[in-house]
Amino acid sequence: EGLHSLMVAAGKLFFGTATDVRYLLDKAHQAIVNNPSEFGMIVPENSQKWGELEKEKGRVDFTNADAIAAAAAKNGQKFRCHVLTWAAQLPSFVTSSTWTKEALTAQLKAHITTVVTHYRSQCYSWDVVSEALSSSPDSNTLSNSSIFQKVIGPSYIPLSFYWASLADPDAKLYYNDFNLEISPLKAQGVVDIVHLVRNFISPTGEKGKARIDGTGLQSHLFVGQVPSLTSLISSLETFTNLTSLEVSFSELDISHDSVPANDTQMEQQAQDYMTVVSACLAVEKCVGITVWGFSDKYSWIQDAFPGKGEGCLYDEKMKKKAAWYGVREVL
Ligand code: XIL
Repeated sequence: EGLHSLMVAAGKLFFGTATDVRYLLDKAHQAIVNNPSEFGMIVPENSQKWGELEKEKGRVDFTNADAIAAAAAKNGQKFRCHVLTWAAQLPSFVTSSTWTKEALTAQLKAHITTVVTHYRSQCYSWDVVSEALSSSPDSNTLSNSSIFQKVIGPSYIPLSFYWASLADPDAKLYYNDFNLEISPLKAQGVVDIVHLVRNFISPTGEKGKARIDGTGLQSHLFVGQVPSLTSLISSLETFTNLTSLEVSFSELDISHDSVPANDTQMEQQAQDYMTVVSACLAVEKCVGITVWGFSDKYSWIQDAFPGKGEGCLYDEKMKKKAAWYGVREVL
């Protein structure tokens, strides 16, 4: 039995993976993605990002993202949609123009409305806002390097949830960020964001019209630096008690600080994966886990963090690693 089937048997909703059109050209990779017992949810790693969808202003091209949606439907997998309001991977017409607050607000509204409407009733969830909080150092304040924060101010967050709520009443609407699982201060920032969304007054004067349903804990972690099981469970319990929202581990990978890893390091990696999976099983409001790619061959880590990597459950030859067997053992 695959990881998703075992996860469901353990009472959770999904074990999923990110993938994308270019990796699906690899048959060995494709065969694993297309196995709904292994992965019960898929999410496009890049194809639904604004900069991919709308390279030229006004010309939205859904071809690649639609291919992932179609694969999910064909395989009987949940489709997670990623991502609407994020300060990275934006089209150049967004980053290189000079905006008034009104114009950027209208542009963001048009983007969210167009994209959410296109995928209406196909998404299990939408990552509505991602990485709004300051990092390095992690903090509970909103990041000023975001064009949305700079031009629109904090209201871009509840507005994004409001427009997404209107365009798809069924998709779960998520806030997504990193280091929430290890930084209590940043997690507090999300609690504040949840309140900001809940207290939002819509343009027509109604309170509570901006819906938020969950938080994605990205969990790009490093081997040997994962918190203990008890501390991870207690952070998740504290956080879900404060927000009363579901959470998922949304972009899990656990990389080595230097590669290639030896057997001892791979055993530690297995232990670390077991800790994260066990924490989700132990916390009632944790609904599932999604890995940000399942094979070391295509992981984003080696590009984003040169010298680091091999953070996935399968190796470059699509062979299951100790980490995969560890996850199976705790499920
Ligand atoms: C990453 C992709 O994996 C890379 O292929 C791309 O070059 C950059 O973005 N947080 C997120 C994801 O929410 O969208 C990011 O994905 C990784 C960090």
